[in-house]
Amino acid sequence: MEQFKRRCRSFFDTLWPAEEKPLVFGEGKCDHPPVMLIGEAPGEQESLQGRPFVGKAGKNLDGFLQAIALRREDIYITNVVKVRPTRVSARGSVSNRPPNREELLLFTPFLYEEIQLVQPGLIVTLGNVALQALMGPQATVGAFHGEETETNVRVQGREERYPLFPLYHPASIIYNRSLTQVYQDDLRSLRAWLTLHGGVN
Ligand code: URA
Repeated sequence: MEQFKRRCRSFFDTLWPAEEKPLVFGEGKCDHPPVMLIGEAPGEQESLQGRPFVGKAGKNLDGFLQAIALRREDIYITNVVKVRPTRVSARGSVSNRPPNREELLLFTPFLYEEIQLVQPGLIVTLGNVALQALMGPQATVGAFHGEETETNVRVQGREERYPLFPLYHPASIIYNRSLTQVYQDDLRSLRAWLTLHGGVN
């Protein structure tokens, strides 16, 4: 994993200064975890603290972990894009924005490598960005959420197949309250899947 981070750092160092856009790597159990959780990109707190899913997103994650009866350190948590995508308003205030095409193209091959390094028992994607990084742009979380599917992850000709369980991004529930029940039901299905496959007791 350290070698992966070093290679990733030296690649992105050639594109932009690290102090301007610090990389936020994955963390947790990086050797055969029962779950690899993949989010979209770091936000402000993640970028400041250098850790994925802290601050407000971390609170959402606590609910997720509780529902599936796992601790943060039992799973591996990462993002597709490992720098904070920002926009600057005319007044100069900085806010988050969705990752753009270029960022996705640059970071997705590193995500595939990360998956093959970590060898998770199950990949859980949060939201469309993470799902599409694995399944292509036609896949939508609306069509795939709450059920096991499979994804092929190819790195330099080596293709591996992983079970994948797509979920809505917890942040999207804040904007669309009608998804609350759907998300809760999906978490129950995920827990059932993990129990059945030996991920949790
Ligand atoms: N924080 C993260 O690290 N990832 C997300 O997708 C959202 C917030």
